[in-house]
Amino acid sequence: MKELMQSLREASIKAINESDNPESIEALRVRYLGKKGELTAILRQMGKLSPEERPAMGQLANQLRSEIEQALELRKTMLSKIVLEKQLEAEAIDVTLPGAEQPVGHKHPMYNVLDQIKDIFVGMGFEIVDGPEVELADYNFTKLNIDEGHPSRDWTDTFYFTEDGKILLRTQTSPMQVHAMETKSLPIRMIAPGRVYRKDEVDATHSPMFHQIEGMVIDKGVTMADLKATLNLVVEKIYGAGTVTRFRPHHFPFTEPSCEMDIQCHKCGGKGCPTCKGEGWIEVLGAGMVHPKVLAGCGIDPDVYSGWAFGMGLERLAMGEYKITDLRLIFDNDVRFLEQF
Ligand code: DAH
Repeated sequence: MKELMQSLREASIKAINESDNPESIEALRVRYLGKKGELTAILRQMGKLSPEERPAMGQLANQLRSEIEQALELRKTMLSKIVLEKQLEAEAIDVTLPGAEQPVGHKHPMYNVLDQIKDIFVGMGFEIVDGPEVELADYNFTKLNIDEGHPSRDWTDTFYFTEDGKILLRTQTSPMQVHAMETKSLPIRMIAPGRVYRKDEVDATHSPMFHQIEGMVIDKGVTMADLKATLNLVVEKIYGAGTVTRFRPHHFPFTEPSCEMDIQCHKCGGKGCPTCKGEGWIEVLGAGMVHPKVLAGCGIDPDVYSGWAFGMGLERLAMGEYKITDLRLIFDNDVRFLEQF
């Protein structure tokens, strides 16, 4: 029996030390110490021993049991250490490796200019309003005092949706004047930036879609002097203090009187250069006093209220600010171009 135990000791310790995963350790525990295990089988034979031999053998068997238990425990801890080490090795992160760069975009240069303009007007108490690009001819033309025969209504200039010419893509942001007057309570101070559409061939200065900013003030006692003072202030904020402007008489059906505002060329100071095409002046916007007919058509009494309005092209402004010479660059979304701003 002693020999049996000795060979079990050797075999089990060897097997335990050679096991290489937690499952096989468990299997070995069952194999040696389980109810039907090898040690139990040996103990069953104790009955054959004489009563004198039994205590010593029992002691040996207990000792063997605890030896096997210890060996199992030890191997188990070792294995879990090995597993952990392997896992750490496999999951190791080399913090010295260069990271995968995430390219971060930025605002389009034209929208930087728009933000600047919005800030200036919001600072003066104007609200920013938004409106439909698919518009009724009534709002784009009729309510703005642009009558049926006006050339801007021509099918060769305007994108119409319907044969009857009642629905179109707005050709200007001026219909926002009508929307504002019809829906807002007085006084009104608003700007309305947005897309407009015309049947223009694409070239360096034309695109069938471009952006305008409409502005309008309606209140009691508003005069042309307010218009000039406000627009001069805006221009000075954009182009710098002391920027010289001039207001030229012009005609728009929805303003009376109407004018165009030019700024003295900031490049040549008015002498004439390629930037101003030799003119010394750069046209920046159309403006005027809101026509009494337009006011009345929107339910505002022109004998009590008056107002001024302006409309300017955003692309042209951005091109001037960033010295961009071709309008197409603004819409192409070529990263090589956009990255420069
Ligand atoms: N809507 C005009 C255009 O597209 C620009 C304009 C002129 C707007 C005079 C106005 C204005 O509000 O008063 O050419």
